[in-house]
Amino acid sequence: MPDFIMKNICKSFPGVKALDQANFHASRGDIVALLGENGAGKSTLIKVLCGEHKPDEGEIIFEGKTLKIQNTRSAIEQKICAVYQELSLVPELTIAQNLFLGFYETGKTRMVSEKDMEQKTRDLFVEYGLEPLDPGMQVKKLSLAQKQVLEILKALNREGEIMIFDEATSALSEKYANWLMDIIRRLAEEKKIIIFISHRLDEIRKLCNRVIVFRAGTDVADMKMEEAENDELVRLMLGREIGGYYPKKEVFTKEETAIEMRNVTSGHKLTDVNLVLRKGEILGVGGLAGQGQSELFLALFGLIPYKGEIVINGKTVSLGSPRDAIKEGIALIPEERGLQGVVLAQSIRENIVLSSLNRIKNHLFLSEEKERRIVSEMMDAFAVKAESPETLVGTLSGGNQQKVVLAKQLATNPDILLMFDITRGVDVGTKKEMFNVVKKYASEGKAILFFSTDTEELVNVCNSIIVMNHGRVAGRIDDEELITRENIIRVSMGEKAV
Ligand SMILES: Nc1ncnc2c1ncn2[C@@H]1O[C@H](COP(=O)(O)OP(=O)(O)OP(=O)(O)O)[C@@H](O)[C@H]1O
Ligand SMILES: [Mg+2]
Repeated sequence: MPDFIMKNICKSFPGVKALDQANFHASRGDIVALLGENGAGKSTLIKVLCGEHKPDEGEIIFEGKTLKIQNTRSAIEQKICAVYQELSLVPELTIAQNLFLGFYETGKTRMVSEKDMEQKTRDLFVEYGLEPLDPGMQVKKLSLAQKQVLEILKALNREGEIMIFDEATSALSEKYANWLMDIIRRLAEEKKIIIFISHRLDEIRKLCNRVIVFRAGTDVADMKMEEAENDELVRLMLGREIGGYYPKKEVFTKEETAIEMRNVTSGHKLTDVNLVLRKGEILGVGGLAGQGQSELFLALFGLIPYKGEIVINGKTVSLGSPRDAIKEGIALIPEERGLQGVVLAQSIRENIVLSSLNRIKNHLFLSEEKERRIVSEMMDAFAVKAESPETLVGTLSGGNQQKVVLAKQLATNPDILLMFDITRGVDVGTKKEMFNVVKKYASEGKAILFFSTDTEELVNVCNSIIVMNHGRVAGRIDDEELITRENIIRVSMGEKAV
């Protein structure tokens, strides 16, 4: 009998049956992948386990005993700890305060001083082999990847017996994803139970020994990892074949320049960046994590100040704010959907309409008909899975929220698209649909700057790649044949692509 069993779990929300007689089981030392398309019910299962949602039906059994999990605190007390898909850090608090938030109340120790907390934070960074950050720094100053690492540390610090990682690697570069995988292996050796959710199949294959597939709120397969083929997993997840993860590459690059950067410098993060992005081009941005890639996108969208020149259609423009950038026909699909991308408390329709008021405006009045058309066009284009356009974005699954972010920004009909890790948390089927949309925009002559934490994606989607290192463009690969993972690394080290 397995050590841990979730049996016949049901959970409904108004209009949605998120879990329908779902089963899950694992034994100590297992690393079990929980796989399923966006909206399949994975996070809901985790939230039931962690006391965030009360199940309508079902039973949770650990080592022969039925668990009673009344709320999130009671889950932690019973050694169930999770890294949630959506970050739960408090931006205004410091790193140390966030790491220990609510921790001491769970009976570990009584009160501690700020100084103790900061020292413990430093110890944690050392223990887990991380470059130390100032424990007194406010979390809002961190990058998304740093926040995700912190979220992981917070869960590790609670020393659970059942540890859950819900999309914990989605914003991490390969280096940090590997870091986490090593830690998880260690936890498994210590006979913990690990539940690992990710849309990156290669990662799952490297890490997990078993895989349970969910579809439409219920478990449809339970296999040993080595016996599960990728194609079969995809078919089980989506109920159909997708035939390859990427659409066929084509080149739509034209002669005309869409946007040019001349000696653009911003703080210590960007130095003398020169860059030409052509119409119809999909230009990837590669390099190790944190080499200025994110600042490049922020500068082009008027979110950070810069020196130097940015030229659009032969004219020097001033990008002092996102408003300026939008006026110049630029759109940004941002890194953090909750902060910059969508308003979670608004409906899908409101989010899309908000960004495209100009297109819908008809003699000072909003044309309801146009509004409906644009909203339904965008929802179809990205296969947003929701009850209706009136569904609140905050109640969608993580991947479906990401689709709304994309739909919202593209509804403004921009000429220059800044796409920053657009497939974060998106299932393999929808990823392919998104790449098809990217390709379609390129074929219409739009210029696309494309970043991904997943190097495979850069290699398979982009026509050209620039590689960044220490805030500079270390090199550019234009020859399709030379766009490989190895060459991106070579160029970032100052060598030539071969
Ligand atoms: N608080 C909520 N209110 C209403 N509906 C919800 C709520 N939370 C989840 N749902 C719905 O339940 C279903 C399952 O969502 P869930 O977040 O569990 O999916 P998921 O498998 O984690 O997907 P993803 O891969 O996109 O993260 C979705 O249809 C979602 O819209
Ligand atoms: Mg989820």
